[in-house]
Amino acid sequence: MAILVAGGAGYIGSHMVDRLIEKGRDVVVADNLSTGHRKAIHPKARFYQGDTRDRKFLDDLFEQETIEGVIHMDAFSLVGESMTNPLKYFDNNVVGMVTLLEAMQAHDVKYMVFSSTAATYGIPEKSPIQEDDHKAPINPYGESKLMMEHMIRWCDEAYGIKFVALRYFNAAGAKADGSIGEDHHPETHLIPIILQVAAGQRDKLQIFGNDYNTPDGTNVRDYVHVLDLADAHILALDYLLAGHDSQAFNLGSSTGFSNQQMLAAAREVTGQPIPAENAPRRGGDPDSLVADSSKAREILGWQPQYDDVHDIIRTAWAWKQSHPEGYQDR
Ligand code: UFG
Repeated sequence: MAILVAGGAGYIGSHMVDRLIEKGRDVVVADNLSTGHRKAIHPKARFYQGDTRDRKFLDDLFEQETIEGVIHMDAFSLVGESMTNPLKYFDNNVVGMVTLLEAMQAHDVKYMVFSSTAATYGIPEKSPIQEDDHKAPINPYGESKLMMEHMIRWCDEAYGIKFVALRYFNAAGAKADGSIGEDHHPETHLIPIILQVAAGQRDKLQIFGNDYNTPDGTNVRDYVHVLDLADAHILALDYLLAGHDSQAFNLGSSTGFSNQQMLAAAREVTGQPIPAENAPRRGGDPDSLVADSSKAREILGWQPQYDDVHDIIRTAWAWKQSHPEGYQDR
């Protein structure tokens, strides 16, 4: 029996596949390579190139492989882009999920671990955020992921498709040996952009907004290492396979770092000056997003290995130094 990783050529997906294979699991990857990289796919995974909105593609895959469970990581995930191009998000994310769930139902695949997001909460009513807190997304990306969570829940009711929704906070870092890492075109995420400045590929960091309701006025986020995220998926899948009921879990470090603090940490790790300037706010950014992840620790037994942002940045820097231009396939 194999695990299907939809989006297994992406940043988080490639680390997910790497971890599954390290643990001896049989892995199938589906990816349309719209943002993923062929070179990021583990050579021991069986790769099917195609789109999860394409029912025929999925039917063929499910017929050729015996899939035990699906790890869904193939959504678009840029907050800023979703504000200017919302239909791209509803099409890829929501329509893709409808088709995938239809195909799972048709082929009797009963387990899904879904990459959800802290963006489902919108502007949190309290911090740290707990799973049952109010959800009112303030960007189409978060809205699409909340819709996807609701869709799976109703498919659980109707067809018994059991799921775990993992609401990630800010995924960051890379495999420590620098062999796989983050490579987006265009790059919009804070840590890779800071490291582009450190590597001399960009003049300066623009810090979007310095008048937020946070201690230093810049946004606060909760950074969690991508391999710790991957481990949580394996625990979640095994939890479902053991017969437990559908659940949602936050995945974060439970510590918030402001954009200014991240810049300071990156200066320490890289030893580079990293020039920065204040810039206007970016649309769709909540002041602060910090997870209460105690539920994942207690119920799944999740124990993140990276609890210091310096260590997380250090792994991203190792990737940057060994692959200054990323996978070089764009
Ligand atoms: N930022 C800057 N300058 C930049 C880039 C980012 O100041 O050049 C700021 C952003 O405004 C934000 C913070 O850095 O305050 C982090 O931004 P990212 O784009 O790295 O990440 P987001 O917090 O927007 O989003 C990430 C994921 C989402 C997920 C969210 C949950 O991309 O998928 O975390 O917290 F939903």
